[in-house]
Amino acid sequence: MITGKYPSLRLRRNRKESWSRRLIQENTLSPSDFILPIFLIDGSNKKHPISSMPGVYRYTINRLAQLIDKAIKLNIPMVALFPKTQNNKKNDIGSEALNENNLVCRGILEIKKRYKNQIGIMCDVALDPYTSHGHDGLIKSNEILNDETIEILIAQSLLQAEMGCDVIAPSDMMDGRIGKIRKALDKSNFKNVRILSYAAKYASSFYGPFRDAVGSKSLLRGNKKTYQMDFRNSDEALREVALDIKEGADMVLVKPGMPYLDIIKSIKEKFKLPVFAYQVSGEYSLMSNGIRKGLINQKAIYESLVSFKRAGANAIISYYADRLDKILY
Ligand code: PBG
Repeated sequence: MITGKYPSLRLRRNRKESWSRRLIQENTLSPSDFILPIFLIDGSNKKHPISSMPGVYRYTINRLAQLIDKAIKLNIPMVALFPKTQNNKKNDIGSEALNENNLVCRGILEIKKRYKNQIGIMCDVALDPYTSHGHDGLIKSNEILNDETIEILIAQSLLQAEMGCDVIAPSDMMDGRIGKIRKALDKSNFKNVRILSYAAKYASSFYGPFRDAVGSKSLLRGNKKTYQMDFRNSDEALREVALDIKEGADMVLVKPGMPYLDIIKSIKEKFKLPVFAYQVSGEYSLMSNGIRKGLINQKAIYESLVSFKRAGANAIISYYADRLDKILY
C-alpha cells in the first residue's frame, strides 16, 4: 500500500511551505466540533472562578447569557449543563435531581426562552451532583444499586426533556439504563430527544477538578470502580457500546479523552456511529497549569484537540470551547 523509495521519494517535499502543508492536512477543527460544558450555581450576578480549573467559572442563571452569546457567536452547536448543588440540598437519594426548580432545569428554561433552537442543550443524567455521598446512584450496604437507580434516572431524564433538553446524556454507567430511558422518553412523546450515552466511561483519576467544581469531591465515599470501567480494558468498551446502540443510543461518548484515543478509534471503526470525546477536567487543568507555568506553549491545546479528530471523534466536549477564537488557528 505504501510505495516509493528514497531518494526519489522525499516526504519532506510536501512539508516545505505552509501552503503545501495545508494542502496535505488530513484533519482540521472547526467550531462545529465542540460542546461547551457550563457549571451553574445558585444566586444572582455571580461568576465564580474554580480554583482547580484556571480559566473556568461557575455562572448564576442570570449571568448565563454572557457565555451563551459567546458560544453562539463562535458557532458552537451545543452546551452541556452541570450544577453545583448546595450541600444542604443534597441527600442520600439525590432527590434534588427531580426538583423541577433545580439549577439544571432553570438553566434549560432560561436558555430555551432566550435562544430557542439556536443552540443545543445536553444534560448529564446521574445522581452525583445531588447525593450526599457523591455517587452516581443509590447505595445500600455499600453497594451502588443498579435497577433502583435507573428508576430515578428515568424520572430525571423525563424532567430534563420536559424542560426542553435536547440531548440526554446518561453518565452513570448503570447497566440497561439507555433502553429504559429511551422507552420512557418515547412513551412520553419525546421521540426526538436524543440520547448521548457515556458508553465508555472509565474510573479515572482525571475527574478530580470536575468533582471539585460540582462540589462532590470532599463528599465522595470510596471510588466508582464498581460501575465505571477499568482503564486496563478496551474490549469491554466495545461491548458497552454495542449494548447501548441496541438499546437506542444516538451517539456515544468516550471519557476521559486523551488517554483513551485508542478506544475512540476502535469504536468509530467498528460501529460507524457518532462518537464524542470528553476532554475532561484533569486533562484541562494539567495542560492549563503547564501553559501558565511556561512548561509548554498554548499551541499544545490545539494539538490535543486535533488528536481527537485524528482518532475519529465527531465532536469534543472541552472546557476550552468558549475560547476557540484564541485556540483554533
Ligand atoms: C458525573 C460526571 C463526572 C464527569 C462528568 N459527569 C465525574 C464522575 O464521574 O465522577 C467528569 C467530567 C470531567 O472531569 O471533566 N457522572
